[in-house]
Amino acid sequence: MSDKQPDDSTATQEYIDISLMILKRFSGRLVFDVFIRRSATHYTKVFQKGDTVCWNRVETYREKGLRHFCLLAEDFDKYTIMVKYLGRTIAQSSGKFSAAETVVVLKETVNSTIQDIVDSGEISEQSVESAANIVTVCVDNLSRDTEVLFRLIKAMGEKGYLQKHSISTSIFSILLAKASGINSAPLLQKIALGGFLHDIGISQLSFMPYEKENFTDKENEEMERHPIFGREMLEGVKGISNDVLEIVLQHHEKADGSGYPNGNKLSFPPAQIVALANEFSALSLRHPGRDPMKPKDIFEAFRGRSQEYNETLLDHFENLIRPNRNR
Ligand SMILES: [Fe+2]
Ligand SMILES: [Fe+2]
Repeated sequence: MSDKQPDDSTATQEYIDISLMILKRFSGRLVFDVFIRRSATHYTKVFQKGDTVCWNRVETYREKGLRHFCLLAEDFDKYTIMVKYLGRTIAQSSGKFSAAETVVVLKETVNSTIQDIVDSGEISEQSVESAANIVTVCVDNLSRDTEVLFRLIKAMGEKGYLQKHSISTSIFSILLAKASGINSAPLLQKIALGGFLHDIGISQLSFMPYEKENFTDKENEEMERHPIFGREMLEGVKGISNDVLEIVLQHHEKADGSGYPNGNKLSFPPAQIVALANEFSALSLRHPGRDPMKPKDIFEAFRGRSQEYNETLLDHFENLIRPNRNR
């Protein structure tokens, strides 16, 4: 196909940037059309559904300075499935992937999580995106230590749930931190990192909690230790501060002391933020035997046990997620 008319189109449709690195990992036929962005309003279709990608042609475009490859927004779900598949493959065999590829997959998972969050609630895409940028910076920082990054990705499991939950908890934590008046960039990064890594201790359990509907008493006991395992895994890791360790340790503690692992009254604000974001994220995702809950029902449940939360924070969170609820 030539890269000229008649496949040129103006931006009457919505396009989303994609990563060539992701495409490269798939050698089969494309399941969507691929475009290059020539300007903000000018896109050209360069490959169509059913084609295999010709990398020589890709190189030619890149040499001409055309670096943004995109797809139609309506096809984004198909791309997301590719990203999820790669995430699982990386968790199973991290040795075959470079750190750069792993970072790209994580970043693309961040992008698809943005889409999910925007689709499911009333939060503006712009604010979710700016929160996600902070998460991306954290992923970049972690990638400086390749071994740590691989260990973490592996720990996040092969099923993809934990990656998604970790990223969405991180994004909700940033949004909530900002909504409650935290503007310090270093603190926001610690909160993002704490949100991203909060459940890393799950990898140390003898069973996969996300695959089970019910736990035995012994499994419950073990589950209640995952914050401790997480803290132990991260202790001494470059770039992980004490505040991040505290967030990981305390993310299941409650304001009234009814949480775990220590039953302490949760009062450390960054951990309060991540704890709330964590619960919201977990309830809004699908679990075995339970459908995702709607934001309205989640907040109703939170309000029903308000003694467990910092109420001001709960108000900020509900204003953020359900800004139009009183209309
Ligand atoms: Fe947890
Ligand atoms: Fe969690």
